Amino acid sequence: MDDRTSLDNWQKLITYAKSNLPHLATMFAEDPVRFDKYSVQAPHLLFDYSKNLINSDIFNALTGLASECRVEEWRDKMFTGDHINNTEDRAVLHTALRASAPINANSDEINSQVQQSLDKIERFTQQVRSGQWLGYSNEKITDVVSIGIGGSNLGPLMVTEALNSYADQQLQMHYVSNVDGVQIADVLASVNPETTLFIIASKTFTTSETMTNATTAVNWLIDAANDKEAIAKHFVAVSTNTEKVTAFGIDPDNMFTMWDWVGGRFSLWSAIGLPISLYLGFDAFKQLLAGAKAMDEHFLQAPLAVNAPVIMALVAVWNCSFLKLTSQAILPYDQCLHRLPAYLQQAEMESNGKSVDRDGKKLTYNTVAGLWGEVGINGQHAFYQYLHQGNTIVPADFIGSVKPVVEVDGHHNTLMSNFFAQTEALMKGVSLSQVEEQLASQGLSDQRIEQLAQHKVHDGNRPTNSILLNQITPESLGALIALYEHKIFVQGVILNINSFDQWGVELGKVLAKGIEQELDQNQLSDDHDSSTTGLMSYYLANR
Ligand code: F6P
Repeated sequence: MDDRTSLDNWQKLITYAKSNLPHLATMFAEDPVRFDKYSVQAPHLLFDYSKNLINSDIFNALTGLASECRVEEWRDKMFTGDHINNTEDRAVLHTALRASAPINANSDEINSQVQQSLDKIERFTQQVRSGQWLGYSNEKITDVVSIGIGGSNLGPLMVTEALNSYADQQLQMHYVSNVDGVQIADVLASVNPETTLFIIASKTFTTSETMTNATTAVNWLIDAANDKEAIAKHFVAVSTNTEKVTAFGIDPDNMFTMWDWVGGRFSLWSAIGLPISLYLGFDAFKQLLAGAKAMDEHFLQAPLAVNAPVIMALVAVWNCSFLKLTSQAILPYDQCLHRLPAYLQQAEMESNGKSVDRDGKKLTYNTVAGLWGEVGINGQHAFYQYLHQGNTIVPADFIGSVKPVVEVDGHHNTLMSNFFAQTEALMKGVSLSQVEEQLASQGLSDQRIEQLAQHKVHDGNRPTNSILLNQITPESLGALIALYEHKIFVQGVILNINSFDQWGVELGKVLAKGIEQELDQNQLSDDHDSSTTGLMSYYLANR
């Protein structure tokens, strides 16, 4: 059934959302096994969703909804290479990159393409890391600059930051995504052309920010080497577009292939992940893939009611589409995951930030929440006030590890005690009578208590998920990313959205092209509104 709102369970959930649900603290008090009921062990992590506004009726309706929406059938379509990205007529096979072999007619060909690409990544990694790959002056490579944006940047950047402690620091990594010249200027000022390798990562090889930065980098190198031939020793490309890569001047031998069946925001498992392999070594890259594969298998095999990505998606749909909580915080309690919120912003919002269904029909329900976040501990001293006492409720994902990657006396317990305290406080809150009692016990006067009490009330009843990894390792990180990938996919299925296109980012790109010409030629067209004309005139007059 394509109109989700007419499904039985959808209607039930609307009724439940309007009902007077008990406070979460009451739900916990009344059910001593609530945690056991609403938590699930998945590869490399424990997923606890018990601190959400659900009960058994809601949970049953949610899993019932997943069945009505044929989640398992869609999942199998994805894994077997059906063209589920209908608007671009493409398969969605990032899972094939971690050897969860597709089982369709093309699987042998796809598997062999993936294997060839992995072999090339391995060879190249070995050559660069061993010092066999030399720059134009026969020096070893010491620095890698990865130029790319969006899916061609956020994944590798997030992963190399997350696994920094596992790197032997043979190579220093740098990323350039912004077309603001300050970023590339900074990076170029910090590296030596003789020992720097550039990766130009762009699925399309047409993205203007990336091409502008790549051209700057090429010119910088040629200036230093005084020889165009140096490009072959310092530039590699990752792309689907051989023609454009060649036209840009990069030797096709130095090109790493990707395919149209890998979406940009799901591409870190492909050669887009080359920076990961170079920085950490190919074995770590393989472990990352293995962790994702373990999560793929869980997603493929676990029944819906104990399937972590499925449940995570259902809880997200419940929060956003039914309870109308349209903001979502991502709060890692692991410094190394500090880029995870930015990574998930693209993964979730570019995938499901849509307002029409797969057939282009306007949707009447909320789709995906606006995602934001920060390392939890820093957030505590910045925006947690809003999470605890703001009058907008923001569901939050807390992500932490049992064991730290770097053991420094006492720190990890301090860190994790905050994780546990925050989720408990957001759930339980503090009532007016509790506040009054506390203040009275501190000896405050009745008048002072009356003045202060309401300010110290915490309503609680704020939904959170907790994800506990054993430790951040390449494998567990792979599993965590795949957990979110599949959550996003299932959420899209439930919402009847194509999660794999991104038409909404095209409009701005097209307009910017025209405007850039106007700025270059100092000539404004009459087509703009008065605000845009006013701003551009001001810019031109004052630059
Ligand atoms: O921002 C839109 C987008 O198309 C993303 O989906 C993609 O990850 C990014 O631009 C970069 O695209 P490319 O890899 O083709 O340069």
